[in-house]
Amino acid sequence: MTSKTIIKNGTLITASDTFQADILIKGEKISAIGNNFRIGNAEVIDATGKLIMPGGIDPHTHFDLPMFGTVSSDDHYTGHKAAAFGGTTTVMDFVPLLPPLPPLPLGCPKGTQSEGPGVRAEGVRASRLRASVETWRAKADPKAAIDFGFHMNITEFTPQIAAEIPSLVEMGITTLKVFTAYNGRLRLHDGEIFEVLRIAKEHGLLTMLHAENGDVIETLVAEALATGHTSPEWHAHTRPGWGAVEAVLRGISLAAQADAPLYLVHMNTAGGADMLQYARERGLPVMGETTPPYLFFTVDHLRPPDGAKWICSPPMRSQADNARLWEALETGLMQTMGTDHCPFFYDGTTPIRYEGEEVAIPGKELGADDFTKIPNGLPCVGDRLPILWTEGVGTGRLTPNQYVALTSTNPAKIFGLYPRKGTLIPGADADILIWDQERELTYGVQHAHHRTDYNLFEGWKLKGYPEKVFLRGHLIIDGQEWRGKAGMGQFLKREPGAEVL
Ligand code: URP
Ligand code: ZN
Ligand code: ZN
Repeated sequence: MTSKTIIKNGTLITASDTFQADILIKGEKISAIGNNFRIGNAEVIDATGKLIMPGGIDPHTHFDLPMFGTVSSDDHYTGHKAAAFGGTTTVMDFVPLLPPLPPLPLGCPKGTQSEGPGVRAEGVRASRLRASVETWRAKADPKAAIDFGFHMNITEFTPQIAAEIPSLVEMGITTLKVFTAYNGRLRLHDGEIFEVLRIAKEHGLLTMLHAENGDVIETLVAEALATGHTSPEWHAHTRPGWGAVEAVLRGISLAAQADAPLYLVHMNTAGGADMLQYARERGLPVMGETTPPYLFFTVDHLRPPDGAKWICSPPMRSQADNARLWEALETGLMQTMGTDHCPFFYDGTTPIRYEGEEVAIPGKELGADDFTKIPNGLPCVGDRLPILWTEGVGTGRLTPNQYVALTSTNPAKIFGLYPRKGTLIPGADADILIWDQERELTYGVQHAHHRTDYNLFEGWKLKGYPEKVFLRGHLIIDGQEWRGKAGMGQFLKREPGAEVL
């Protein structure tokens, strides 16, 4: 029999409205929104004094990502669980492009070669994108505890890759990420990015850009190491903000010339926001994302002995950059708040307890003597909603409706999940937060549930926190209790031609 739940007396917040109503959930969907439902056999939850919001959508995560000889310390289960504790019910993860397989040795029977976690059969051998997606699905599907989609990293551009990009649509992937940095590893050259943008445009896909200047970084890193500058702050000094500003404008101009939409990931500079404004004032279909750490932290956080905790790319900048990014959120210049969640242990030699087990995963200590060896990335997926509520809504910088737009509705629209996700209407998935706006706590690693040994917001005083979280009608967070499980998260196949906001 289909389960029925009524959430009564809450205040519903969507991207456009705030109103008092009850929600009837039938099975996995919102069935009706109204008042005084009289339904037999329904479980009734009284949400008097509470806010009801759509589950958060984090458009930018990296679970189980191999990097610098280790791996990001949250996998597709632990990261999903942490996301859920923070009120996020959908995440979008990036699929790394697998390297080409070496040629089959003479006499080797077809389909017998393997690589990494999954065996790549001869049938998919010809398709690196399909093999990459299948490998990532094989990691994620059994572990997923909330719903998830994928973006595809295009980190090499050959005629074969170009020909394969349209096949991503059959796999439900409609977004591609390209990089202007990480020379020799992930970077594409401008002409290649232009071609990716054109293919994306032709097939209704959206290109996402990591904007830094790879050549300048390469030169400055070599100089820093040669002169003995090996401490974490040099990570920021060798990736100057001007490189991001220039690369953002370069990406915008390539997109304009390709007549294609563009989404700028993890924006960290005031100048980048200025370039976004320049593009949007000219009517270009360019959108921007930032993440909580870029709103609060600066290069100064990289200077103390534990500065490695803040190392990610692009790096933390200045208070002026923080302020301009806030302004970009407040004025609607920027469309989404992601996290770029890519956690590592600060001290991966000392275990933490996770679900009753001791866990230690090599992390930031790998770069104790050399900032170029510190794995790049931060924990944040569970922090995003509580931190932005207190610091954004609690301070009056954002209205509750803007908050929902930035953290749920806009990502749903931009990434082709709307109206199944990102809103509270009949027919939508019942991904619902009951938010306790009066709950006060001192936040930190214990609340965050990330599988790592530190939290960037340790000791912060928060007001407002998720009380209950529903994923497709299933109660997965009930106060401090985890009621979700591995495998219950579904892969979200998306259609091309999503909205440009
Ligand atoms: O430092 C970061 N952000 N690591 C993840 C990779 C990326 O570029 O988003
Ligand atoms: Zn990036
Ligand atoms: Zn990222």
